[in-house]
Amino acid sequence: MKFFTCCIFLLVNIISARDWLVDKITDRTTIGTTSLGTLLLSNTLISREFLLDPDFATIDFRDLHETNSSILRCVKPEAVITLDGIEYSIGGVLPNTQCAYFNRTEFWKTKTLDTRAFHFSTYEVGIPKAPFAYTPKRFAPADIEWPPKGIHLSVYFKAPYFAPLSHKYVTVVVNYEMYDGIPLLVKWLDVIDTSGRGDIDLSFNSIEILAVNQPWSPFGHSWLYVETNQPPGHGTNVIWAYDAEVNTIPGSFPPSVNCTYQTDHLIIVPLVTELSSFHVHELVIGSSDEERSALAKHRLMRLLAPHTQENPIFFHMINGTSPAFRSAIDQMAEVGFEMLIYSFGSGFDMESNNEAYIEQISSDIAYAKSKGIEVGGYDLIALTRQVQVDWMAIDPTTGKPRDSACFASGWYDYLLNRTLTFMDRTGLIMVETDGPYGGYSCASTDHVHHRNNDDSIYQQDILQGKYYQILRERSVYINQPDYYFYQGGSKTGMGYNEEQYSLPRWMDISVSRQGMFDDTYQRIPTMGWMFVPLTVYHGGGDAAQFEPLVQHQIEYEWALAQYLGAGVAACYRGFRLYDTNETKTLVTKWVNFYKKYRSILIRDIIHVRRADMQSIDSYMHIDPYSNDIKGLAMVFNPTSDPVETVLPVPLYYTGLTDTAQVSEQENAWQNYTLARDYHIDLPIRLPALGITWFLIK
Ligand SMILES: *[C@@H]1O[C@H](CO)[C@@H](O)[C@H](O)[C@H]1NC(C)=O
Ligand SMILES: *[C@@H]1O[C@H](CO)[C@@H](O)[C@H](O)[C@H]1NC(C)=O
Ligand SMILES: *[C@@H]1O[C@H](CO)[C@@H](O)[C@H](O)[C@H]1NC(C)=O
Ligand SMILES: *[C@@H]1O[C@H](CO)[C@@H](O)[C@H](O)[C@H]1NC(C)=O
Ligand SMILES: *[C@@H]1O[C@H](CO)[C@@H](O)[C@H](O)[C@H]1NC(C)=O
Ligand SMILES: *[C@@H]1O[C@H](CO)[C@@H](O)[C@H](O)[C@H]1NC(C)=O
Ligand SMILES: *[C@@H]1O[C@H](CO)[C@@H](O)[C@H](O)[C@H]1NC(C)=O
Repeated sequence: MKFFTCCIFLLVNIISARDWLVDKITDRTTIGTTSLGTLLLSNTLISREFLLDPDFATIDFRDLHETNSSILRCVKPEAVITLDGIEYSIGGVLPNTQCAYFNRTEFWKTKTLDTRAFHFSTYEVGIPKAPFAYTPKRFAPADIEWPPKGIHLSVYFKAPYFAPLSHKYVTVVVNYEMYDGIPLLVKWLDVIDTSGRGDIDLSFNSIEILAVNQPWSPFGHSWLYVETNQPPGHGTNVIWAYDAEVNTIPGSFPPSVNCTYQTDHLIIVPLVTELSSFHVHELVIGSSDEERSALAKHRLMRLLAPHTQENPIFFHMINGTSPAFRSAIDQMAEVGFEMLIYSFGSGFDMESNNEAYIEQISSDIAYAKSKGIEVGGYDLIALTRQVQVDWMAIDPTTGKPRDSACFASGWYDYLLNRTLTFMDRTGLIMVETDGPYGGYSCASTDHVHHRNNDDSIYQQDILQGKYYQILRERSVYINQPDYYFYQGGSKTGMGYNEEQYSLPRWMDISVSRQGMFDDTYQRIPTMGWMFVPLTVYHGGGDAAQFEPLVQHQIEYEWALAQYLGAGVAACYRGFRLYDTNETKTLVTKWVNFYKKYRSILIRDIIHVRRADMQSIDSYMHIDPYSNDIKGLAMVFNPTSDPVETVLPVPLYYTGLTDTAQVSEQENAWQNYTLARDYHIDLPIRLPALGITWFLIK
């Protein structure tokens, strides 16, 4: 009780004074029982309160940092599962008389046990568990904590009396994690069968059901952001819908969120010993401001997928022969590039068994390593991949093979073995896995890792995730045109309209700068790759390609500046990085710039002015926790005329409050006074096609 009072008092002062996106929050996550006998999990930014008697249930979920209000409007079960066709709620208490708003007076009077639900038995408090081991590499930020600090709460449930005997051996564990300094809660289920029989059929119906007040839902202001840790479109869904009551309670239209596996068929998995559900991430943003909401989501990504902040400068090599490879490595070493990828079309074969080939690659990689350069290669691993016929995914409607491999067949074991063997033998330390498992089912009944169609999506997701986790634990850098970031993936395509890289050079550069600006609302810069077609990519011919580089120096410099200046690695794809001393100087200049300012360039982007090619445009990196450079703004003039203007630069998220010291390209520092809304007016003078940048501290 003492604990409870103390914290509530503290909050009174905290709420207006701090912004977790600007101020470093040093409060720890705490858990304790309240005077009401409930369990309160809090990190001073959010709290979640659990009823323990007559059963376990979430009875409050509060935003303490932005709106100081309750997100919840009534009680639902903690989760819902099905065992052998019998649907069970996990915890919860019997229905509220209404669910339009939380009447706590009534709740405490009327709450009753739901006798048909799995019942609370006990809970354990621990610390967050890392889903995979990770050691920061490749100049990732120094402040990464893995696993993140906070509290892990495991809540144990047992089957109700009426359940069949076999279900009495089943324990359901609801896991919660809350982390220090971020308004984030993570939740998932483990279902354990201790009977050893392995004959129970399990469906995860709902991992999380929250009846929220309108503003928290997408029907209101989207103040609560809910996602799963699986790639979208893989059978895991966050469904926002109005409750059924919408038709029965006049004037009340309450939405709920339901996190579930949902496909065209029910997912049913054999419960052999233990199965885990996907994880639900619940981020309490409390604001509908686009930049704020983006920054909050970026913090979530940096916390739970810290490896996405590694951002080597890489080159896509199109010629896999030894002499061509080594000459590219020599150039890379000269200008400071950090990683070479054998691109598609280079003839690279990670699955090869050929001794002579393996020896060539391992000797070439050793050469690269001697120059401090890491090497990776491309492989098509599942989607649209043809493998031996008994490993192909079977379409349940036609009974015929799809055009993709089943990731829960022997193909998984084969591919993993070939990948690891090749890596062990050659020193390969990066993979570009094209076509990872994309969410399709497989109706085969004789694949080694799934039973039939009904568990095929679940098992394929698990194995694709495991494949990446194994690589992540070996510090492998992983490009994947998908969203396996929480399983270890490093990078995915940004925008992903590949055709734009076949547009004439200036169009490509402009469209790509616009697209990158938009995409960095969704992603941290280092999660995405862009593309520079030094040689022809899809098409577009001479007008699109940057070769011969010496003839297209201005465009080449723009590409280098706009991508390195955004902290976005691009696939510079070709067979060389420079063709003359002039182009070598250009590449060196921007690589040195990136390396010198990497610690701020890999931070989040504030969207200052989107490119419309009518005047200047700008984006700015911010790091409010830095003791030195807190902002770096890139400014571009894509027009054919000189520009002299004033650019309002919003500095709120740099953490500066009164004065900003600004220097254009390391020239003299000048002081600016921040306006009431934290912006400064920065005078800009740029020649036609000029580029500049400003340091802010
Ligand atoms: C936040 O809300 C709680 C509960 O309504 C209240 O007790 C507390 O005083 C509020 N804090 C602030 C800073 O308004
Ligand atoms: C809340 O419930 C109590 C007890 O049932 C009732 O007297 C009161 O009118 C309710 N308040 C509201 C706002 O519904
Ligand atoms: C959640 O979604 C699942 C799958 O669509 C559905 O079966 C279930 O009834 C939903 N639960 C709630 C409480 O909306
Ligand atoms: C690859 O490089 C080798 C060695 O420089 C060269 O002989 C060969 O023509 C190149 N292949 C292609 C397709 O350019
Ligand atoms: C790959 O499979 C071979 C043959 O079964 C086995 O000897 C080897 O240890 C495996 N290697 C890895 C890295 O799994
Ligand atoms: C390029 O630079 C190198 C070293 O600075 C010099 O030796 C060489 O002559 C230059 N090449 C050309 C074509 O200017
Ligand atoms: C700018 O302000 C800082 C302190 O805020 C001061 O130390 C510095 O001398 C000022 N610089 C100029 C050029 O006025």
